[in-house]
Amino acid sequence: MPREIANHAAVRNHARRVGLKPSETLLDRSYHHATMGKLKDNNKRGRPDIVHFALMEALGTPLFLKGMLRVYVHTVNDKLITIADNLRIPKSYLRFEGLMVGLFRDKAVKSDEGAVLMETSDDTLAGLLDAIKPGKVIGLSTTGVQGTAEKAVAENFADDCAFVVGAFPRGHFSESTTRLLNLTYSISDIGLEAHVVIARILYECEKLLEIGIHHEGDEKRRQVGA
Ligand SMILES: C[S@@+](CC[C@H](N)C(=O)[O-])C[C@H]1O[C@@H](n2cnc3c(N)ncnc32)[C@H](O)[C@@H]1O
Repeated sequence: MPREIANHAAVRNHARRVGLKPSETLLDRSYHHATMGKLKDNNKRGRPDIVHFALMEALGTPLFLKGMLRVYVHTVNDKLITIADNLRIPKSYLRFEGLMVGLFRDKAVKSDEGAVLMETSDDTLAGLLDAIKPGKVIGLSTTGVQGTAEKAVAENFADDCAFVVGAFPRGHFSESTTRLLNLTYSISDIGLEAHVVIARILYECEKLLEIGIHHEGDEKRRQVGA
């Protein structure tokens, strides 16, 4: 919850209902619409459900399950959330919300065995890209070069690239994010939901890597014990 509105009546009432301190609750337009007008970039904020959907999509793909995809969430305040390779995101939004509240409070979510599943850091998107050094950083946006998901992946795949998708309802990447992109593609002549874009891009990666795809003859080979 941004500090500047944590004391607003709508925020306090919602916090009381869910049994949390106002400062600990997640900004959510469903409850805090009346007070969000005051916030900078408010059209891009208050939709944790979009992040939930986006993570469910990415973390359910064969690419992620086979350890070939690293996932990060970049916040509006230029902070990062790192997602562990083995994280299974709860399908229930209520449970996801609880997880995120714990993450922002404790800076990390750990498994029962103590392994870090998600952690926040003060590193910036620029800092992350500097550290992981992708060959290219590809943005996805309706304002990008027109093409298809297949083209966006095929033209950049050899570079071990990072794809950046906006997990926000409206608006475009900030100037500081745009400066970090080498190329931006539009993969449809209409605006799509973030999770649809993620699904299409990751499926194209899987096709190129032949991940989770049955090949003709596989079944026969299995039957003969090959
Ligand atoms: C609901 S959209 C945000 C709306 C934003 N005005 C836009 O048009 O990109 C969420 C995200 O999905 C991606 N997206 C939506 N439509 C797209 C398209 N046609 N091509 C590429 N990416 C798209 C972008 O990353 C965008 O930030």
